[in-house]
Parts: sequence; C-alpha cells; structure tokens
Amino acid sequence: MSSKKLVGISEIAEMADPPVTKQAVTNWRQRFDDFPKPVQSLQAGPVWDAEVIAEWLKAKAGHQPKVISFINLKGGVAKTTTSVAVAEILAKDFRKHVLFIDLDPQTNATINLIGEDEWGKRDADGRTLAQLFKDKLRPDSPCHFDIEKSIIRGVSTIDGGIARLDLLPSSIEFIDIQEKLPFVAMQGNYDNNPQDILRRALTSVIDRYDYVIIDCPPSLGIVTKNGLRFSTHYVIPAIPDIVSTWGIFQIVTSVDSFAESINRKIKPIGIVATKVQGNIDLHTRVLKDLREGRLFSGKDTDLKQPRLFESAIAQNANTARGADAEAGLNTFRKKYGPTYEPHLALTKEIIERCNQHRN
Ligand SMILES: Nc1ncnc2c1ncn2[C@@H]1O[C@H](COP(=O)(O)OP(=O)(O)OP(=O)(O)O)[C@@H](O)[C@H]1O
Ligand SMILES: [Mg+2]
Repeated sequence: MSSKKLVGISEIAEMADPPVTKQAVTNWRQRFDDFPKPVQSLQAGPVWDAEVIAEWLKAKAGHQPKVISFINLKGGVAKTTTSVAVAEILAKDFRKHVLFIDLDPQTNATINLIGEDEWGKRDADGRTLAQLFKDKLRPDSPCHFDIEKSIIRGVSTIDGGIARLDLLPSSIEFIDIQEKLPFVAMQGNYDNNPQDILRRALTSVIDRYDYVIIDCPPSLGIVTKNGLRFSTHYVIPAIPDIVSTWGIFQIVTSVDSFAESINRKIKPIGIVATKVQGNIDLHTRVLKDLREGRLFSGKDTDLKQPRLFESAIAQNANTARGADAEAGLNTFRKKYGPTYEPHLALTKEIIERCNQHRN
C-alpha cells in the first residue's frame, strides 16, 4: 500500500500556479468552504494529502480572476471610457464581482466612478494606490497603505452605485512616484521587485473577484508594468486612424517580451475600435485593415495582430458627457447614450475571448 504524500501550508503555496504566499493559502482556508480538511494536525501545523490539494488547486485554477489591462501608448483613445463601461456592465448586467484599478495619475476613471469630492477626501488621507507606492519609497518609515480601507465598494454613478463593482483609486502623485521608483530599486532600498508591488498588495483580496479591470496610463512605465505583472489579458482601445494605431505593434512586442521575462502569459484579446466616425474615409480604411489582421504586414515578427472586436464604439457626444460624475447620469442609457449597446456587446465578446484563452 502506497503511503500518502503530505504537504503543509508553505508547500501548498508553492504548488499553486503561479505560486502564492502562505498568507494567501491561509485566506483560501477561511474563504473557501470546499478547501480540503487537513488529514492531521502536527506540532508544525496542519498537513494535507498532496493529491487532494492538487485536485483542489486544479479546480480553483478555473476560477482564477481574469485580470484585463486596457492599454494604448496613445492618449485620448477612450481607454478610460471603455474600461469603465466594461467594468460597470460586467458587474451590473453580468453580475460579476469586479475590481477596477485606476493606474493613471490623471485619475479620470476614479473621478468618473466616485466624483471629485470623494476622491479629494481619499487622496488627502492616503487612501489611494499612490500611498502603496509611497510607502515603498520610504522603506524605513511605517506603512500607511491599507488595502481594505483603500478599496471603495459599490462604485458608479449608475443606480447610485453598482453592488459588485469595487474601485482602487488613483492619485496625481503617481507622476512623481513613476519617476522615483526605478532609482529606489537600483539603490536596493527594499526587497520588493518594484514591478511587483501591486500584485503583492492584492494577494489577500484578489480571490474575491471574477474580473480585475485595469485602466493604464498611456505609457509602458513602471506603474503600467505593475498592472501588467499580474494581468492575464489585455485589450487595446484605438481610434481607427494612423496615429492611434501606429503604436499597437510596439505595445504587442513590448508586452510579449515583458511577459516572457516574468515567465507568464499576457494574452492580447483584441483591439476595440473607438470614437469611430463612419463618414471619415480614413476610419473606414483603417477598420478594414484591422479587420483583416493586416496591421503587422511587412513587419519582421512572428507575432500576429490581435483580432479586432466586432463591436465598435461610435463617436458620440453623450458618451463624452458620461465621464462627468456630477452630471446625474444614473442609468446606462443616460451615461452612454447610443453607445450602451455596443459597449454591452463588446463586454460579451471580452468574456467569450477570455474563456477561449483559458489555459
Ligand atoms: N465614443 C465616444 N464618443 C465621443 N467622445 C468620447 C467617446 N469615448 C470617449 N470620449 C471622450 O474622449 C476623451 C478621451 O476619452 P478617454 O478619457 O476615455 O481616453 P483615454 O484613452 O483614457 O485618454 P488618456 O490617454 O488621456 O487616459 C474624453 O473626453 C471622453 O469623454
Ligand atoms: Mg484615460
């Protein structure tokens, strides 16, 4: 009779793919009713049957949150508008638990979701993501960032708040932080990898969510890399013109080599055409090229152009007004006008493509 292989909490943390902290395993024990019962409690702590744990981890892998970054190096292409709409629709229409992370120092998504007054209060007392990074810049001072206090629950102007939509807000201080972080890392002032600060901070909460949506600033700097570091997928919003699409090749190649350097997959699930004007010939031409996957033609690469989403978002004055949290736009229809249905269809496509891409 073969004897069972037994494992403790630290071995379970190592067995997870990707590996997690011991704290994360402790949290799973508390959070998931189906977490296996230990076979024995030794003086060193509880131990489990390794096979039972491996099975549980495998089942759990199917429930890993999808972490989707919205990214383009070009400004003003509706990264924020699209990521906020997708997050709101995922939470309200598809009843998913969603965490929205605003990584852009412009704080547009934060203000869109909670308004300027609430953001001002939180910014003043360090309940934004900037505080997390500021703590790392001062490794000898006490940490002020508290993940539970920084997450704002039930955000959105719609319905006075959407029950399953949470926000980690940004701050303008990110601009300063972005510049300082790499230097602190070079001086070896703290043991954390400066690209891994956000992922580590989220380990105790990420299991609560089905989707994490990240609004990235228009750069591939260290703050964006903190988001990409644990992203499973990314979406590229782009206006179908020359200047908004020229950087797509650079994004795809940069994200691909970054993913390889951290030994992970970050899958490009698609390009979404935004602010489309059907009466502009250039838009029609660029859309055709994107639809036919020709953007990388003639480039020296094995990488394919990410597929264009079928749902495109038209230029619309109502959608532009939707970013104003004080405007009393408390329904999808008021907030997005005629672009609500295309945003809904896009969200459906995103869910489908994430599921197709499951390993
Ligand atoms: N479908 C649309 N029709 C008209 N205006 C839009 C549409 N989508 C977004 N806008 C407007 O375009 C501007 C840029 O949008 P948004 O802030 O979402 O872009 P962004 O890519 O996040 O920009 P940034 O690079 O500055 O973060 C905003 O004023 C927004 O309200
Ligand atoms: Mg933005």
